Amino acid sequence: MKFSKFGQKFIQPTGISQLMDDLGDALKSDKPVNMLGGGNPARIEAVNELFLETYQALGNDGSFCEDINSTATSSMANYSNPQGDAGFIDALVGFFNRHYDWNLTSENIALTNGSQNAFFYLFNLFGGAFVEEKDSEEQTIDKSILLPLAPEYIGYSDVHVEGQHFMAVLPHIDEVTHDGEEGFFKYRVDFEALENLPALKEGRIGAICCSRPTNPTGNVLTDEEMAHLAEIAKRYDVPLIIDNAYGMPFPNIIYSDVTLNWDDNTILCFSLSKIGLPGVRTGIIVAAPEVIEAVSAMNAVVNLSPTRFGASIATPLMKNDAIKDLSDNDIKPFYQQQAKTAVALLKKELGDYPLSIHKPEGAIFLWLWFKDLPISTSELYETLKEKGTLIVPSEYFFPGVDISDYKHAHECIRMSIAADEQTLVDGIAVIGEVVRGFYDKVK
Ligand SMILES: Cc1ncc(COP(=O)(O)O)c(C=O)c1O
Repeated sequence: MKFSKFGQKFIQPTGISQLMDDLGDALKSDKPVNMLGGGNPARIEAVNELFLETYQALGNDGSFCEDINSTATSSMANYSNPQGDAGFIDALVGFFNRHYDWNLTSENIALTNGSQNAFFYLFNLFGGAFVEEKDSEEQTIDKSILLPLAPEYIGYSDVHVEGQHFMAVLPHIDEVTHDGEEGFFKYRVDFEALENLPALKEGRIGAICCSRPTNPTGNVLTDEEMAHLAEIAKRYDVPLIIDNAYGMPFPNIIYSDVTLNWDDNTILCFSLSKIGLPGVRTGIIVAAPEVIEAVSAMNAVVNLSPTRFGASIATPLMKNDAIKDLSDNDIKPFYQQQAKTAVALLKKELGDYPLSIHKPEGAIFLWLWFKDLPISTSELYETLKEKGTLIVPSEYFFPGVDISDYKHAHECIRMSIAADEQTLVDGIAVIGEVVRGFYDKVK
């Protein structure tokens, strides 16, 4: 069978498809696997209990599947309009306006089938071929999505329907302490390099995007960095897209003291996945009405309407703020403790070796830097996989950068901290043994 160019692009092996296949295979395998790869959220009892209770209550009161003539906005027996479940959108407007002074209306929110779906739309809306008028003539200009700080989320890499339209800026790497201990670093945006990018000055950037907290590093861009990015975005008349999958107010897996802002030039993307509902595939976009209209139009073509299942579960939890309480009191402290445990285990295994850990400021990962490791972390990944421990090597996390001469991009790994304690203990013991072995060989 012959596939179109569009089809060819998607069936090529991509970083994300290989990773998802590997993780899926590991879960099916009958051998025990220390699963420190992947982005699944942890199983947290309080979280599961609340969702189950809510789900059962919806089933019992019948609002889950009102009949076709019902005006109930949460009904799953009807499609919603392409913008998404109106009852959930109203609950979100109330929720955000209660906690922030954003003055949103329902015209500022659209739902998608997970935020991955939102990034597919947004990066194709703002990256690719643009037709613009210059000197009274129409010109086609190729525009990229600017990632102000690489490494960035693996899932962005292959979303463009044609070609790749990313440009990324490598970070400043600062050595920092964490809880009074040495052996940590923090990435900071290199604003000098960013401001001097010819593509920015020449109008070849369509949007700026960052995840905050960042997947894979657990970095949280500071308020000053965000304000500077927002100012640059306005100066060049492009939107600033903030991927808030791990951010505040839900799931609020963020330990540094920062604030979240929104204005008409900002596109904020939320998700229900990391609060513990990745299977319901619900993403939320907060943006200016013209962006919401474009996303709704894309929803109509791609999905008819987005799923209402997550919306039905989350609506009552937005209305009574239970989602915020759960995030503040259960989800955030859980991951903060997991990060502490994992850091202590890593220090025990590799404290005398050149390991540096990105300061854990949020998200569900640790980002480990093995300085001058004698092999690439893709090779390290293979060895660890043979020994039943899965992590993700750093090479995947640099969309928009040619990393062939960038050593740092071959020396890091992402490990999830969402696993249970025994898996952390076992997995980190394997990482310790293997990494010590590679360093010892060249001593
Ligand atoms: C930073 C980031 N953005 C977006 C996503 C996509 O999440 P979902 O499509 O489940 O909302 C993920 C998932 O791992 C992520 O880590």
